[in-house]
Amino acid sequence: EKGGYDHFMLKEIYEQPSVIKDTYRGRLLADKGIIKLGGLEEYIPKFINADRIIIVACGTSWHAGLVAEYIFEDLARIPVEVEYASEFRYRNPIITENDVVIAISQSGETADTLAAIKLAKEKGAFVYGICNVVGSTISRETHSGTYTHAGPEIGVASTKAFTTQITVLTMIALKLAQVKGTISKSDYMMHLRELDMIPTHVAAALKSNDKIEEIAAVFKNATNFLYLGRGYNFPVALEGALKLKEISYIHAEGYPAAEMKHGPIALIDEHMPVVVIAINSNHYGKVVSNIEEIKARKGKIIAVVTEGDTVVRELADYVMEVPKTPESLTPLVTTIPLQLLSYHIAVMLNKNVDQPRNLAKSVTVE
Ligand code: M6R
Repeated sequence: EKGGYDHFMLKEIYEQPSVIKDTYRGRLLADKGIIKLGGLEEYIPKFINADRIIIVACGTSWHAGLVAEYIFEDLARIPVEVEYASEFRYRNPIITENDVVIAISQSGETADTLAAIKLAKEKGAFVYGICNVVGSTISRETHSGTYTHAGPEIGVASTKAFTTQITVLTMIALKLAQVKGTISKSDYMMHLRELDMIPTHVAAALKSNDKIEEIAAVFKNATNFLYLGRGYNFPVALEGALKLKEISYIHAEGYPAAEMKHGPIALIDEHMPVVVIAINSNHYGKVVSNIEEIKARKGKIIAVVTEGDTVVRELADYVMEVPKTPESLTPLVTTIPLQLLSYHIAVMLNKNVDQPRNLAKSVTVE
């Protein structure tokens, strides 16, 4: 049942090239410039005329929501707020019929997300679901939605659910951008073609597995990790840190790289591994400066870099390469080495990777 893999988590990490494809199969026709999401079509005007989109979710699904905030605002120019479902529901939020709420949940059973949906519906908002489990409570409680088609995710640590959620959210953003006219025809076509390349890029990123295992062996006894990223890759830093915490029980924090100087830099010494997403993007120069600041304080750098990178390779102690893709799609590839890093560390520490202590696959308590 684990398909020859030692753990479900590893199997699910390796399934990503094929399940990402399953997620967009029949929905993304890159050559024809078509995105067609059954659940979305008739509600496109609702999204386009919305005052804002509010995304509610928990855990890894909330991180997918944060990635979506960048892509929706960047491409479709619709204001987005991303909320922890648990905070949203208890703080008397301002919400109207002109808001569109997107609820993201792998299991479709998360109690706080479900309660947030009920509240949003009471206030008259249109609620769109992005779930993996077909027929789940959240998929039934929402007005419409899109399934991720990732197949069953058994490992408690969410991996393929995350990348397929981002795939769906990216398709929605591109579709809205096209209809609204906030993206040029050529940029739209380029994004579709590049999205269609993501399974190949993810497969290439997985090829670094052995190297990542070696890096894991070096750092497995660290007691703290810092994860840094900027822009689209700030949520990826959060996700990398969550993955490490939940399965290896090593304390890890994700931060926007620029926030380091506002506090966390005080933590850095030779015992602190810092995972930096330093891909070739608009933020490259700034991230390189952040790396130099960490080096000056003797921090150890593990960098996620674009294939062929030379500058960060010189500075970093270890690098994990990912293929080049437009910045808006990078979370789909930069996440991969971070999943593998946490997996190998947890295995080396003899932790129960698929069923970490104190955690359940679906959190049905509030
Ligand atoms: O099923 P959901 O997507 O609603 O679950 C939300 C979180 O409980 C979940 O993502 C959790 O954070 C994962 N264990 C993280 O790997």
